[in-house]
Amino acid sequence: MASIEFPPDFVWGAATAAYQVEGSPLADGAGTSSWHRFVRTPGRVRDGDTGDVACDHYRRWPEDLQLMRQLGLTSYRFSISWSRILPEGRGRVNPAGLAHYERKVDALLAAGIAPNITLYHWDLPAELDDRGGWLHPDSVDWFGDYAEVLFKALGDRVPMWATLNEPWVITDGGYLHGTLAPGHRSAYEAAIAARRLMCAHGRAVQAFRAQVPARPDRQIGLVVNIEPKYPASQSTADRAAAARADAYMNRQFLDPALRGQTPPELPEVFGEAWVDWTADELALARQPLDFVGINYYTRAVVRDDPSVWLLRAAPVRQAHATHTETAWEVYPPGLTDTLVWFKQHYGDLPLYVTENGSAFYDPPTVDGPQLDDPLRTDYLRRHLRALHAAREAGVNLKGYYAWSLLDNLEWAHGYSKRFGLIHVDYATQKRTPKATAALYTKVIASQGRCLNDTAAPPSTGPGPAPR
Ligand code: BGC
Repeated sequence: MASIEFPPDFVWGAATAAYQVEGSPLADGAGTSSWHRFVRTPGRVRDGDTGDVACDHYRRWPEDLQLMRQLGLTSYRFSISWSRILPEGRGRVNPAGLAHYERKVDALLAAGIAPNITLYHWDLPAELDDRGGWLHPDSVDWFGDYAEVLFKALGDRVPMWATLNEPWVITDGGYLHGTLAPGHRSAYEAAIAARRLMCAHGRAVQAFRAQVPARPDRQIGLVVNIEPKYPASQSTADRAAAARADAYMNRQFLDPALRGQTPPELPEVFGEAWVDWTADELALARQPLDFVGINYYTRAVVRDDPSVWLLRAAPVRQAHATHTETAWEVYPPGLTDTLVWFKQHYGDLPLYVTENGSAFYDPPTVDGPQLDDPLRTDYLRRHLRALHAAREAGVNLKGYYAWSLLDNLEWAHGYSKRFGLIHVDYATQKRTPKATAALYTKVIASQGRCLNDTAAPPSTGPGPAPR
């Protein structure tokens, strides 16, 4: 393996999302969001947890900014809460909501930390949800208009923007399985929401091009979560199952955005619920992008299983592997495979890993200046090595964002899963860096060279061949 060193302009970041960290959801004139309601529906979120306080980042962000400086981050990826900007989702702008994010952006820039803003990380204004949310044809323009407000206010300063975070999770969790807001269960709706989301993405990119003068340091992209699907055997049935899973989760959104087409497996996956995208929809979804953000957590080994709705495919648990608290297999080679796969399928568009991280048990309270979290530290170290391997393989990889800066509300899991570089004591809001944060700081300071020193070699595992 080549010795590890990342280039001096490699971006080192950490990520959060508004509803997961901010708290104060109705402060300063904000409207309610779909998540504000979802957490108030019995049985939806573990232990009845809500984002009412979360990490109190809405008020404590200056303190958190100091932590980012101590970490040595060169970028911070965060999302904007749509209903703070437009309390009814469209129409009237709330100046106090906008001012909040303007202050944050200016402070980040002053600290030399590049803001990387995601416009939509799952918290839809409730009034728009009442009108049908992402099922409504006008949702495309609602999102475009919201994006335009932000480009006008912040487009002169913010170097990186992403339209959507993980459209697959929005449609699968929100509209197919109902585990996330708005909690619907319909294949018909999941197929419609996917089209709307990708058209909304395209419409926002168009608004960006119209509002923000073209400069190399003003970029817009899309963030997707990719989970490589490896067939459990070489049987025709298992290989077809892996291809369906890959089309559904990975290519459903990248193919329209980057190739102006939908994956050929999808009509079979959705069956009667499938409606071909129109030529106009495909054209709108395919806008020139400056980068793609890839969120990588794990892989799936997949076998054919006719009993599983919708995919007729089931994951095969890898009994001898380490699994995180979210039951995800730790599989660093999947990160290299994913990035190389992207290059092979979609070309050399600049890539960022916009999320990568792991939930392992940490105690609720910490004594002392640092919390030891060896499993998470090992996860980070091995994934950063896998990241470097992708660069060695010629992937146009520009940066990496750890998920997450802080322990936070893990959606339907509530506060039971901790992904943070920094521990949050939810009773006191005390922040304590974990050992993983210390490793990350060393990595950033040495441009990755310290990864050459550590004993454990990157896992290469004999796993099944990638798709
Ligand atoms: C999401 C985050 C989430 C993380 C861990 C990603 O799907 O973007 O919001 O917390 O994964 O589950």
